[in-house]
Amino acid sequence: MTTGQNQVSGYTPAVDLGDEQLNSRIAAGMETVEDLLRSELSQGAEFITDKVLHLTTAGGKRFRPMMALLAAEYGPHAESDNVYKAAGVVEIVHLATLYHDDVMDEADQRRGVESANSRWSNSVAILSGDVLLAHASRIMSTMDSLTVRHFGETFQELVTGQMRETLGAGESDPVEHYQKVIEEKTAVLIASAGYLGAYHAGADESTQRSLQTIGGAIGMIFQIVDDIIDLFSDPKDSGKIPGTDLREGVLTLPVLYALAEDSAAANELRSLLTGPLEAEDDVQRAIALIRETEGRAKALADVQAHLDVVDRELDKLPNNAATRALRLLAEYTMRRVG
Ligand code: IPE
Ligand code: IPE
Ligand code: MG
Ligand code: MG
Repeated sequence: MTTGQNQVSGYTPAVDLGDEQLNSRIAAGMETVEDLLRSELSQGAEFITDKVLHLTTAGGKRFRPMMALLAAEYGPHAESDNVYKAAGVVEIVHLATLYHDDVMDEADQRRGVESANSRWSNSVAILSGDVLLAHASRIMSTMDSLTVRHFGETFQELVTGQMRETLGAGESDPVEHYQKVIEEKTAVLIASAGYLGAYHAGADESTQRSLQTIGGAIGMIFQIVDDIIDLFSDPKDSGKIPGTDLREGVLTLPVLYALAEDSAAANELRSLLTGPLEAEDDVQRAIALIRETEGRAKALADVQAHLDVVDRELDKLPNNAATRALRLLAEYTMRRVG
C-alpha cells in the first residue's frame, strides 16, 4: 500500500460544542471512528482501497458520526463498540452515496478534490460506492439485526429520494416534491445517526425517537443550506463549483421559490430554466436572477422552521451539555450559508 494518499486524516473538530469536557470526549470518540474507518476501509485489494480512501481521506465534515456520538451521550453506554461502529457505518453509507451521487450529478469535485468519476471513470466510482456498502454490511453483521433492518429501511428511503429527484416533480407541487426528496435523500440518514447513536448507547426509546427527530430536522436544515451554498457560495469555501444543480437541471428550493414569483426576474428565469443549463453564461445569469428574487430568503425561512422543530424536541431532553451542543450544531449548520 502506498503511503500518503491512503492515510485517513485525523479528525479536526469542526464545531465548538460549548463544553470543554464534551469537546474532548467527542474529539476522542471521533478519533476512534477515524481509526475504525481507516482499518475497515483498508481491507481488500489495493486497487480498490486507493479508490475508496480517495474521498475518505479528502476530509469531509464527519457530520453524521458526530451526530451519532452526541446522541450516544444520552445513554449509559456512550463509549460502547457498537456506538463507534454505528458512527462509522453512517459515514461509510454516506460516502457510498457520494460516490454514486457524483456519477448521477456528473460532478467534477467532491470534498475539495476531484470526484472519483472525474478522476477515474463512472464505473470506478459506482464500484467504489458498492464496496463501501459491502463494508457497511460486514460491520453491521457484527452488531445486531435491529441495526441491519434499520439500515435497510434507511437506505431504501435514501434511494427513494434520489430516484424521486431523478424522475422529477411531474404534475406534483414542486416545493412539496423537493421537501419529500430532501427528507428521504438527506434527512433520513442524519436521523438514523441520531437514532442509532442513542439506541446503541442504551438510551430509552423516547430519547432514541427524539434524537431521530432532531437528526432529521438538522438534516433538512443541512440540505436546504447545502442547496443555497450550491447556488451562492465561493468555491474556495465550499469545495464545489457554484451552480452544479442548475447545470444538471435540478431545481432546488431557492430556485423553486424564485420561479414561483411574479416579477421580471422570475419571468426571465422561467424562460432560461427549461432544462439543464449548458452555457456558463446562462448559469451565471440564472444565479444573478435568483439573487434578485426572494428565493434565498424564503428558503432560509424554511430553515428557521426546521430549527424550531429542533428546539421543541430539545426541550424534551434533559438540559445537559449534549442538549446544548445539539442546539449549537443546528445553528452551525444554518450558519454555513454565511
Ligand atoms: C453532502 O453531505 C451531501 C448532502 C447530503 C448535502 P456533507 O455536506 O455532509 O458532505 P461531507 O461529508 O462533509 O463531505
Ligand atoms: C447528495 O445530494 C447525495 C445524497 C444526499 C444522497 P446532492 O446531490 O444534493 O448533494 P451534493 O451537492 O452533490 O453534495
Ligand atoms: Mg450531487
Ligand atoms: Mg444529487
